[in-house]
Amino acid sequence: MKILVLGGAGYIGSHTVYRLIEEGNEVVIFDNLETGHIEAVHPQAVFYKGDLRNRAEIDSVLDKETDIDAVIHFAANSLVGESMVKPLKYYDNNLCGTKVLLESLVAHGVDKVVFSSTAATYGEPQHTPILETDPSNPTNCYGETKKAMERMFYWTNVAHGLRFVSLRYFNACGAHISGSIGEAHNPETHLIPIILQAAQGVRDHISVFGTDYPTPDGTCIRDYIHVTDLAQAHILAVKHLMNGGESDIFNLGNGVGFSVKEVIETAREVTGKEIKVVYEDRRAGDPAVLIASSDKAKEKLGWKPEFDSLPTIIETAWRWHSTHPHGYSE
Ligand code: UFG
Repeated sequence: MKILVLGGAGYIGSHTVYRLIEEGNEVVIFDNLETGHIEAVHPQAVFYKGDLRNRAEIDSVLDKETDIDAVIHFAANSLVGESMVKPLKYYDNNLCGTKVLLESLVAHGVDKVVFSSTAATYGEPQHTPILETDPSNPTNCYGETKKAMERMFYWTNVAHGLRFVSLRYFNACGAHISGSIGEAHNPETHLIPIILQAAQGVRDHISVFGTDYPTPDGTCIRDYIHVTDLAQAHILAVKHLMNGGESDIFNLGNGVGFSVKEVIETAREVTGKEIKVVYEDRRAGDPAVLIASSDKAKEKLGWKPEFDSLPTIIETAWRWHSTHPHGYSE
């Protein structure tokens, strides 16, 4: 297959590109490198620097790369906290970017897209585990833009026959098994990278946000899913569309929840390092428990997470962080 990956220099995008190439596919990447890293671009991929909001830039790639089988779309901003203080940045990049993309795809006759959605489309869960049919009431602007992207794809499918698969990730984590690419955000806000930075002395401690949640140890519970398993799900979703499958929405998680304290304890065991903890107040907008039901992806896409134990997830992340203490800048 020849796949155009938008945002292929980002965290989940770069891991998906690696997996596509490992499986013998041809990959074209389009990325504005605003949050992505040129060092994360697979050497065998064809790379174009460009911004989705610029119609001429995406058009010129599709004019040149005429035989694209499908698109995987990761090109978006994805920080919940930032989206609450800069909502228009999220509407601009996530929604305007996707609108321009869809116009260009329709004009070029490309009719299959797999794209990143999020558990944040659900908002406060009604029950656990969360099903795809559960109500979608986002409590932050990031989730709201992803929900709107899903609807934009839905109506484009109705009008133009462009089929899509939306993948709602829970907590993406871990790194490529080789340790050569991994998670590198600036600033970093995600739990596992911050814990590992505390383990290696890049930061003094990990702040635990809230110890009074209605959970067994009082800290939030999340469903941590390895980035390579997410990558595999994207490839299976592309195959689903290539085989004539209908547009659909799937959760991607392990179906098992771990508390913040459990993640820290596992990181201590895996790294053998002291990890200093400071207990702080709750962070605004954090639901107590988020756990996915991914039965639908397993049944309909044949997805089977491989790196599904927390120690394995943290081991792969540690391989990356311990060799790249300052991310791609070293
Ligand atoms: N946490 C801490 N200290 C930190 C960082 C995080 O205690 O320094 C806690 C958070 O309060 C939360 C848990 O660790 O309970 C996980 O936090 P992350 O920031 O790593 O991830 P989130 O669950 O907030 O967000 C993730 C994705 C989002 C997505 C969201 C869906 O990163 O993109 O899940 O709800 F939108």
